[in-house]
Amino acid sequence: MNVLLIGGGGREHALAWKISQSPLLEKFFAIPGSPGIADFAACVENISIADNAALVNFAKEKNIDLVVVGPEAPLVNGLTDALNAAGIKAFGPNKLAAQIEGSKIFAKRLMKKYNIPTADFEVFYDADAAKDYIRKKNAPIVIKADGLAAGKGVIVAQTLDEALNAVDEMKTFGVAGSKIVVEEFMDGEEASVLALTDGEKIIPLIAEQDHKRVFDGDKGLNTGGMGAYAPAPIVDEKIAAQVEEKILQPTIAALKAEGIIYRGCLYAGLMIQNGTAKVVEFNCRFGDPETQAVLPLMESDLLELMNDCAGGTLNDKKISWSKNSAVCVILASGGYPKSYKKNLPIDGIAKAKSLGARIFHAGTKLKDGELVTSGGRVLGVTITAPTLREAVDKVYRCAEVIHFDAMHYRRDIAARALK
Ligand code: AMP
Ligand code: GLY
Repeated sequence: MNVLLIGGGGREHALAWKISQSPLLEKFFAIPGSPGIADFAACVENISIADNAALVNFAKEKNIDLVVVGPEAPLVNGLTDALNAAGIKAFGPNKLAAQIEGSKIFAKRLMKKYNIPTADFEVFYDADAAKDYIRKKNAPIVIKADGLAAGKGVIVAQTLDEALNAVDEMKTFGVAGSKIVVEEFMDGEEASVLALTDGEKIIPLIAEQDHKRVFDGDKGLNTGGMGAYAPAPIVDEKIAAQVEEKILQPTIAALKAEGIIYRGCLYAGLMIQNGTAKVVEFNCRFGDPETQAVLPLMESDLLELMNDCAGGTLNDKKISWSKNSAVCVILASGGYPKSYKKNLPIDGIAKAKSLGARIFHAGTKLKDGELVTSGGRVLGVTITAPTLREAVDKVYRCAEVIHFDAMHYRRDIAARALK
């Protein structure tokens, strides 16, 4: 198969690494790719991932059999629809199905209509009405902008004042912020369960935990994710079964009942309390950095599974998993998730690899032949080991030998599971 991968972050590097191991793979391209992905695929930087027509043309020209779409924006922008219309298969939901991430209102209404467990909510198109409702409900309470807001459109307000201000802040998210969801605050522990689906069958992956806040002890601002590990023991067998039967299966069935066939990765962000899981959010793609932790544990052929998802032929396929644990620690630029410097030279990757780490490039580029930083999240360091304890000890020994100016990372990834 000839494959085109869309994206260039740490998640896409992990996808490229795993896809490259498939005996089905023939030619492999990535747009835009990265210095890490370049080890596996020919990277093409002069086509925008927002330009559906140019991407379709490229796929036709290169006789691509399957396009794997990494990030949410091209999915919400209808890339899968454009490819399918040209007779090209894509892994990743079409525009209607991608609303599950692209519109919080769509996702919440779907869950309510089909009794999928999630926080109670109301939708508002008017700031004053939202504020009246918030005063009635009181804090803690959660305010969300409707559309994609690069992970920043959610405010978990601990006080009434914070909540009322949040309504005004939503306006800064443009169109996304003119429609808001006000949601009941859920207490508990978060986990992520990703699943592959062809719109009919689903196969959940191993449960994981991300670390969204920038500093140790879940302090500081929300980020795209500072580290992940798998398996996450908070999702025991009973909860895993509940997530599959009460959340994942019913969501795919609900979409189908609405006339929408969801093909790709469905990511359920969960809140777990007292042995039950509720949905915090859905994403229409693999998680980042969850993918960098879970794929190194997968023994099955990911490309074959993705092709089955795209073609509706998942049937009764299973995924086989290693018994190991995996942990991924993100090395971030100083200042992230706010502003940070770029173009800083990176050292020590070869040393970390020699200690056994897999290094996934999240925000790097080559400048005059030298590897430098180019994003907020720069590298993901992943270790797999027979126990989580060993994986964590080793991952930090590897992280330590990598260096760029003002680099920072959390020291407590997976600490909750080790307690
Ligand atoms: P979302 O983009 O919807 O995942 O929200 C981002 C983060 O906000 C989540 O990972 C949670 O930590 C938090 N969050 C969102 N909704 C709720 C809720 N209803 N109760 C508590 N925390 C929430
Ligand atoms: N790690 C969270 C996400 O991918 O949205």
